[in-house]
This record gives sequence, structure tokens and C-alpha cells, in this order.
Amino acid sequence: MKSVEEYIQSHVDEFRERLFEVLRFRSISADTSCGGEIAKTAQWLVDILKPLGLNTELIKTEGNPLIYAETPRIAGAPTLLIYGHYDVQPPDPLELWTTSPFEPTVRDNNIYARGSSDDKGQLLTHVFAIESLLKVGKPLPLQVKFLFEGEEEVGSASLSKYLHDSSSKKKLAADCIMVSDTCMFGVGQPTITYGLRGVMALELTVRGPSRDLHSGVFGGSVTNPAIALAKMITQVLDENGRIKVPGFYDDVLTISENEQSQLATLPFNEDEFYSKIGLQSGCGESGFSTLERRWCRPSFDVNGLTSGYQGEGSKTVIPSLASAKFSFRLVPNQSAEKIAAATKNFFDSIKPDGVTIELDYQHGAEAMAIDPAKSRFMKPATEALERTFGRPPVYTREGGSIPIVAEMANVLNAETLLIGWGQDDDNIHSPNEKFSLSAFQNGILASAHFIAATKALGSN
Ligand code: BES
Ligand code: MN
Ligand code: MN
Repeated sequence: MKSVEEYIQSHVDEFRERLFEVLRFRSISADTSCGGEIAKTAQWLVDILKPLGLNTELIKTEGNPLIYAETPRIAGAPTLLIYGHYDVQPPDPLELWTTSPFEPTVRDNNIYARGSSDDKGQLLTHVFAIESLLKVGKPLPLQVKFLFEGEEEVGSASLSKYLHDSSSKKKLAADCIMVSDTCMFGVGQPTITYGLRGVMALELTVRGPSRDLHSGVFGGSVTNPAIALAKMITQVLDENGRIKVPGFYDDVLTISENEQSQLATLPFNEDEFYSKIGLQSGCGESGFSTLERRWCRPSFDVNGLTSGYQGEGSKTVIPSLASAKFSFRLVPNQSAEKIAAATKNFFDSIKPDGVTIELDYQHGAEAMAIDPAKSRFMKPATEALERTFGRPPVYTREGGSIPIVAEMANVLNAETLLIGWGQDDDNIHSPNEKFSLSAFQNGILASAHFIAATKALGSN
């Protein structure tokens, strides 16, 4: 019998070709014209899972379909639910891509394509790991369930709804939810992520006069909505980088001393971090390190601003409206709904005269953090990573959000295991997204080793 390592090694080119196939679909969840491509992606996933002998289903929702597949239940052994998302972010600005975002291309041992790292490439490592184990005739020591969705990048509304049906709760029942949709802490450094921030996105619209006005005829006599919006937005943060919305920090937990010192041991190079993104220095809440600011503390960002004339040259108008899309990153124990209500009160209290405002809730998801020492899946995961990468994993949090993770862990009462194969410089959500070929291969291998190592968990 061939070893699973040999099998993966000799099939990695084929695995890459299959990843290329799915990367060619424009499964952009934010773009409603992509429904056909979403459907093709979902069907493609069904078509690779079914031939493995897995009980496979394409589950229709009001939004994008879910894909579910399972291997048989193993008496006395735990169940692992592997989650991933097949939707991707819009590729624009297109002109900044070296090669087309939906025509995957290999350069310097990286696969360049939208969705290569986030998350199609990462998601498929587990499918190919299971495929490899089954093909070499290795019995799986536990039941594996796959759950893939197509709305992660827009807040996971359909999966959230599905999760609360009693029948789906039974179907998805698992002891551990494994996700590869995060980053490694450096090249070749295996990483287990034990926390994610939550996120809440809002849009503030400021309305003034009933139409755009001549700024000579009216300027100086009416409130300009763009200025009103700018004033309101700049009041959210104080000079110490703290969010001024009353009550915002009420539920924020302090970072334990143990975790502070643990984070301080990570080999984080501040200068390199900033220079890689074209900056000399950063900013943030005073009293916290950069890793703490990014992973363990909330943040506020404006994601888009719109008002007035954007065309060539100038136009002397007072715009009738202005709007800002903005978001907060949340930390464990903060409630998105509570923060949304507090934010509304805050803006109402600082709104300048002469304009009206409207605050629209876009989506919200809570943060998560677990104690890695308490999870029984950490041991096989740690062993598998060490075996694959030749060094032990580091334990990190991440500042990004995977909206459904905390909710799924709660509803299913399952542990979470986040092991990412991405790199901080994979350009996820940016032009020239990439995924390293070695991360792809090591991901498949580590996943196979992990599944094999769960044998030691024995009875449930
Ligand atoms: N995979 C990312 C989240 C991520 C990125 C976690 C890097 C850790 C490191 C995910 O696909 C994502 O982009 N999430 C969005 C969610 C939002 C659109 C609801 C995010 O974090 O902005
Ligand atoms: Mn992702
Ligand atoms: Mn993403």
C-alpha cells in the first residue's frame, strides 16, 4: 500500500489543476449578477465530493447554496465538521492585477487568482486530504462532515438561518469544527488560531438640502452634508485611539497577563510588518502592542466615503447627501446589536443642525476566543503540524472575522480548530491575490496527518 505522503506527492499536480478549475468561476457573493457562476461553483464541489463515496447534498437556500457531505459515522469516535467558503471578494481594481483574477497563473511558486488563498485553495486542502486517505485505503478514524457556503464574504446570512433549523442541527452535529481560512505566522511556520475578531458593518447617510446646490448662491448659509459627515466620523475616535461611543468598552474583557506575555514571545517584526504595506509606522489605541491592537482590541474603520462631485475637474456644488460605510471589529463578549444601538444614539447626539441622518445595519458577527489548553483536538493538530512542517505550531489570534464560526460553535456546542495555510501577504481582498504552492501541498499533507492522528482520541 502506498503511503498517504507518496500519494499526495504524486498527485499534487493534479490537485493543482483541479484547484485551477474552481478558481476560474467568478463566485463573487457581493455581485448579484454572479448567480450563475455561484451555481456552477457549488455544483463543481458536489461533483468532486460525490465520487469519493461521500453522502453529498447541494442545499438550496434563499441565497447561495450550501454544500454538505459526510462520511459514515464511526461508533465511539468523534465527528469533525470541516467548514469553508467558496465565495470570493470582487476583484476590482482590475487594472492592478498582473494577470487576470479568474485565470489562475503560477509565478514564483505562487498561484495567482481571486479566491486562491481566501478560501478556495485552503478549503480544497481538506477535500484532497480525505481523497488521498480514502484512495490509499486508510480507514478514517472519525466521521468527517464537509460544509461549504457561498456567502461568507457578505455575512453568512443563509447559513445562519439554516443553522437554526432543528433538522440541520442534527445533521451538522459535530465535536469539532475545523476551518482553514486564516494565516500562518510567517513562511513555513505552522499556526493554530484560537481567536477571531467579530465585525459589524454600518452605513451612515447624511441628508441636507433637497438637491445639490450652487455653492456660490448657497455656500455659507446651509450645512454641507459632506462636512457634517466628516465631522461626525472624526468624532468616533479620540486622540488615544479609543472609540468614543458611550458604553462601547463595557463588555470588553481585559487581556490576561498570561496571554500578554504569550503574545510578546511571538517573533513579530514591527518594521517589516509596516514596510511590507508601504508604511513607516502605524497607530492605534495607546497602551497596547501592535499584535494586541490587531487581535485582541476592537477597532473602527471607514471602508468607503461618498459625496458630491467625483468627475474630472471641479464643480462648485453643495452635495445634497453624503454617506460613509464603516465597520467596527469586535472582541469576545461584545454584542453587535448592542454596539449598533449605542452607535445610533451616539450619532444622534452629535448630529449637526441642518441635516438628517440615517444609520443602516449591514451585517454583524460576534468574535470568538477559546482556551487552546482545553481542547482535546489540539494534541493531534499540533502533532500533525509538527510532522508536516518540521517545527511546532505557534498559537495566535487573528484580527479578521469568519462570521459564522462563533455562532456555529455555540449552536452545535462544538470546539473550534482554526488552522490556516495563508500568508499575511497573500493579498486577500486585494489585487494579485496569491496562495503558495507549498502551502497548498503542506496543507493537504497536514490535514491528512491530522485526520490520521485523531485515532488517538478514541471513544467520544
Ligand atoms: N478569511 C477571511 C477572514 C480572515 C482573514 C481571518 C485573515 C484571519 C486572517 C474572511 O474570508 C473574511 O474576509 N471575512 C470578512 C467577513 C466580513 C465580510 C463579514 C472580514 O473579516 O472582513
Ligand atoms: Mn475567508
Ligand atoms: Mn475574505
